[in-house]
Amino acid sequence: MKAKSARTKSMKPHAIYPGSFDPLTNGHINLVERALNIFESITIAIAQNSRKPKVFSMDERLQMIRKVFADSPRIEVESFEGLLVDYVANKDGFTVMRGIRTTEDFEYELSLAQANRHLRPEVETIFMMTDPQFSYLSSSMIREIVSLGGSTKGMLPDFIEDLLKKRLGEGKSK
Ligand code: PNS
Repeated sequence: MKAKSARTKSMKPHAIYPGSFDPLTNGHINLVERALNIFESITIAIAQNSRKPKVFSMDERLQMIRKVFADSPRIEVESFEGLLVDYVANKDGFTVMRGIRTTEDFEYELSLAQANRHLRPEVETIFMMTDPQFSYLSSSMIREIVSLGGSTKGMLPDFIEDLLKKRLGEGKSK
């Protein structure tokens, strides 16, 4: 069989990076910045219907993430409702990108990607390994540290850390 040329029309030059981003961390940012070396553009897609209760509203997360990437014309930030694969299928030429930090992540991500593949085989998922300096970081860990009064300096942008401290501090004095 004749080998296909390395670049074909069917290549997907754009990535959709879905997640909850509650809040966006420096691990997410690092992944997006590295992915810009591979993809022409990246859409950060905030899931509307995630089961977990949120600290920041959808509008707040959209605003925060847009502010972080304000100088990056190749990045857009959107929200979506419903199934990820349906959202991706409506955006022709995109592939899903997810980050993997640990073997636990791998197991979860594998089942998510396989379920998505079952739902819509034409939607591909690719994985990027988290930079080791961020491999322990998660939004939920950051929320817990802040709610218990610890420092999360260097784990997320300063202005988001300040907003998170304010938000999680609300109600404590009541
Ligand atoms: O940052 P998270 O919480 O790990 O992101 C998970 C997310 C939002 C990517 C996942 O829950 C998702 O794709 N939600 C949209 C609904 C959907 O398609 N669920 C998967 C069917 S198996």
